Amino acid sequence: MDGNGRWARERGWPRLKGHEQGAVNVEPVCEACIAEGVEYLTLYAFSTENWKRPAHEVSGLMLLLERFLADKVAMMNRNGVRLRTIGRTADLPGPVLKRLERAIADTAHNGRLTLTLALNYGGRDEIVDAIRAIAREVAEGRIMPDGITSETISGHLYTANMPDPDLLIRTSGEMRLSNFLPWQLTYTELHVTQVLWPDFGPAELREAIADFGTRDRRFGGAVENPITAATA
Ligand code: IPE
Ligand code: MG
Repeated sequence: MDGNGRWARERGWPRLKGHEQGAVNVEPVCEACIAEGVEYLTLYAFSTENWKRPAHEVSGLMLLLERFLADKVAMMNRNGVRLRTIGRTADLPGPVLKRLERAIADTAHNGRLTLTLALNYGGRDEIVDAIRAIAREVAEGRIMPDGITSETISGHLYTANMPDPDLLIRTSGEMRLSNFLPWQLTYTELHVTQVLWPDFGPAELREAIADFGTRDRRFGGAVENPITAATA
């Protein structure tokens, strides 16, 4: 969800105004996902690197998150949205964590859209945490080193039980992954838009999905050339 700061700067406003508008955007984008049949939406809301921002911006983001969690449970229940998180959420401020746990519990029964907030999320940290967990199981003799497969690793990531993303949407024109889901994005289609996150709405989501629909996904495989196949 990139570009909040630039969106605010274009208007001569403080960065937090951009974050506020970015938070407003989540509801229409969730509803558009449901209308389009998307079952999993994962939003990169706060990275492990974002703590480096000025203290007032970090506390502003945390307050915004706390308010979002308090205000949006009704919307989530109305739309069948189940909330979950990925990241080292235990390090979030106490009041945010409390709201988060409550919102997760209050929406656990929903099944139309799984909305995952990446909070204090870092892709490399996620892999580190998975390796630690697997190493513990190896040390306890529950897994043999040669028994570790790609599925073992997927199953120990924060995203265990979630499918790998089909589509990554990157707003504000940045051409990098920024430590987001490095393991899971291996075969994900990328859609980069110049639109800043606060301006990203249902129309932009539909455009991204239409772009995704034009992709020929081979997952490293190949299909026979039609002419050769016809004459074989
Ligand atoms: C939002 O956009 C990302 C969050 C951490 C919430 P930015 O704050 O990175 O916006 P830009 O990149 O300065 O425009
Ligand atoms: Mg940014």
